[in-house]
Amino acid sequence: MIDLTPYITLLKQGEVVAFPTETVYGLGADARNPSAIKKIYRTKGRPADNPLIVHVSSLEQVKEFANEIPELAKKLMDTFWPGPLSVVLPKKPEVLDLITAGLDTVALRMPNHEIALSIIKQTGALVAPSANSSGKPSPTSAGHVSEDFGIDFPVVDGGKTTIGLESTVVDCSGSTPSILRPGSVSKAQLESATGVKFKESFNSKDSHAPKSPGQKYTHYKPAANVIWTGDAEYLDESTLFLLSGRAPDMPNVISYNNDLDQFASELYDRFRQADHKGYTQIAVELNENLSSHPMYAALLNRISKAVG
Ligand code: TXA
Ligand code: MG
Repeated sequence: MIDLTPYITLLKQGEVVAFPTETVYGLGADARNPSAIKKIYRTKGRPADNPLIVHVSSLEQVKEFANEIPELAKKLMDTFWPGPLSVVLPKKPEVLDLITAGLDTVALRMPNHEIALSIIKQTGALVAPSANSSGKPSPTSAGHVSEDFGIDFPVVDGGKTTIGLESTVVDCSGSTPSILRPGSVSKAQLESATGVKFKESFNSKDSHAPKSPGQKYTHYKPAANVIWTGDAEYLDESTLFLLSGRAPDMPNVISYNNDLDQFASELYDRFRQADHKGYTQIAVELNENLSSHPMYAALLNRISKAVG
């Protein structure tokens, strides 16, 4: 087990530290320290109108930030926490505007990762966006964090993250719950756990005030041009192929034999690797026949943004 003491000391001193979660690496800062939170925006180059998720290790910590916990949100926390689900709730008045970007809600998540939980237990709640430079794919290893922030940047190395895509974000602050960002907790799982219908609010670009500001930014873009396979040719050696189904055995073709969990866990690393290896194009295929797979909506969302 890694000695977490130096990292906890840094966090308590108002520094930012990257740490692993089950989804992607997070860039943590003390959720009660404005100057620490400002360092997150500076480090990432993050637009100031994109709010942060507060990461907790207990329900006590939720109550420091949420003004109320509606029955539906309680049910979600009981079922999916610790886990890859962020729940947006009405915020307490004292929650810093730096966290919520001036919204009257706050997003909360209890990550399902031993290191993350152990850190948060000792520091108190941490805000933690993905630990990448804004616009880069989220980091799924400590090496990715070092690529973006430099080799001397403090990062707790917990190996590769298992899920590989960011948490599902659900808004439980209004009368109808809605999914603001799809993740590995699927719409079907949310609905079967609660018996309630969830709206999907991540497809429409025209939503009047965007409910989840992060969704309007171009994300997850490698330097290589990302396209849907269409008429890309396997023989074009400057194109890397990422395919959900089976494919010919060629050096520039990676296929997942319908294993979307594996696809999701490797996607961002493949994007980064493609750049290192000098591919100028990435052609992606996600078979529609797999649309009932829990990971399908999240993969479609992230790939679509990269194609954007
Ligand atoms: O899996 C994850 O959620 C990772 C790990 C580190 O926990 N974190 C993460 O954070 O993906 P970030 O900052 O990259 O994405 C946070 C998303 C953004 O789309 C943001 O707009 C949305 O959550 N969000 C945060 N607070 C919100 C709020 N009060 N209302 C609506 N959306 C909110
Ligand atoms: Mg992010």
